[in-house]
Amino acid sequence: MKSNGKAVLTYGDGKSVDLPVYSGTTGPDVIDIRSLGQTGMFTYDPGFLATASCQSAITFIDGDAGLLYYRGYPIEQLAQNSDFMEVCYLLLNGELPTKTQRAAFENNIRRHTMVHDQLTNFFKGFRRDAHPMAVMVGVVGALSAFYHDALSITNAEHRAISATRLLAKVPTIAAMCYRYNTGLPFMYPRNDLSYAANFLYMMFATPCEEYVPNPVLVRAFDRILTLHADHEQNASTSTVRLAGSSGANPFACIAAGIAALWGPAHGGANEAVLKQLAEIGDVSQVGKFIARAKDKNDSFRLMGFGHRVYKNMDPRAGVMRQTCHEVLNELGLHDDPMFKLALELERIALEDDYFISKKLYPNVDFYSGIVLRALGIPVSMFTAVFALGRTVGWITQWNEMISDPEQKIGRPRQLYVGPAKRDWMPVERRG
Ligand code: CMC
Repeated sequence: MKSNGKAVLTYGDGKSVDLPVYSGTTGPDVIDIRSLGQTGMFTYDPGFLATASCQSAITFIDGDAGLLYYRGYPIEQLAQNSDFMEVCYLLLNGELPTKTQRAAFENNIRRHTMVHDQLTNFFKGFRRDAHPMAVMVGVVGALSAFYHDALSITNAEHRAISATRLLAKVPTIAAMCYRYNTGLPFMYPRNDLSYAANFLYMMFATPCEEYVPNPVLVRAFDRILTLHADHEQNASTSTVRLAGSSGANPFACIAAGIAALWGPAHGGANEAVLKQLAEIGDVSQVGKFIARAKDKNDSFRLMGFGHRVYKNMDPRAGVMRQTCHEVLNELGLHDDPMFKLALELERIALEDDYFISKKLYPNVDFYSGIVLRALGIPVSMFTAVFALGRTVGWITQWNEMISDPEQKIGRPRQLYVGPAKRDWMPVERRG
């Protein structure tokens, strides 16, 4: 970061403190408030609306302009020209790979896709109807118990081994969650298939017949992973960083990220979109639900619309919308009532003054939910698929944090509004 002058904060009786201002490569400047301690005050910023928690060279978002770059490359270019493995290499290493680097990277991931056989016993401890995210939090966290050989977070080689293990095994674990739910046998990974095709294979193949992946659907799934690979300091990534700041191992940190992702305001939104479409039920009901979304006295929200950062079209949503149409065409699903309903909801909301004035555009999860459903992925697995795509981002951000010399244990302060000091009373004198 570059120094760019200072901001002066005046407080109390004409006292002041100089606060350095820094510029990044692009995007808004930041005011360094670390020296605020000398004033005896803290800043107050619930939800971190105006707080940069770290410096990062991984992902850039300009929400007003609708821009998303991984390591400087616009997401649209990566979605069009790269695939998920290449994007993983880019995020983890900072540069796009050469042919040889890519082959070596992919080969390494493919050779770590199996999980320890003992790990399969964990699944039996869960109810068959357990939510896949509940299982993911537990089983991904449990990986820490299997790899004592490479858990030193200060050792760059150990961190790289953990990254490979997580990238390779999270899809296997996610697919096992689905198979356990449905009572189907676990399918061992097939290392001759691409990352995306192998996941679809582990989800949908059976030992009884040959499974031939459809290239249009594999490409669509690969794109979903690419679009979800990283999104700078969102709730789950910040959770991974916060957990990691205490020195916790990477498997525990990623499990923490999975837990944070689960909520409907974050990764749970794609699942919530499909549930809401089912609740709306029919195109004739769209007006009623739009009216509810606009009613200040009703807590109902249109799931898949709005974003904390994007106040313009989410660039990922544009790519996903196109992919959505490709998949619906391939599968001849344009007349499916659920998809018709989704497209009608999108049309009406995009023309509605409430949504226009509040800059509530369909976000990536609106379309990814529709595509995932078309691919045959059950709704309960949607957030697990998001976790699968985001794992590379979480690991990259965790790794960057560990390597940052300014890194400290995360410890926000608070504005205390509870009772002032009072003395304990014997029970007979209370009330
Ligand atoms: N439907 C109806 N009204 C909405 C919606 C919505 N989906 N989203 C925001 N609003 C209204 C909200 O009521 C508020 O109105 P007012 O100013 O009159 O009080 C205004 O828009 C601003 O909303 P906010 O809650 O202050 O905005 P936020 O930045 O805190 O929340 C959000 C962002 C994504 C949590 C929110 O838009 C939302 O709940 N959307 C639905 C859930 C969803 O699709 N989440 C996925 C986000 S993308 C995936 C990811 O990156 O994790």
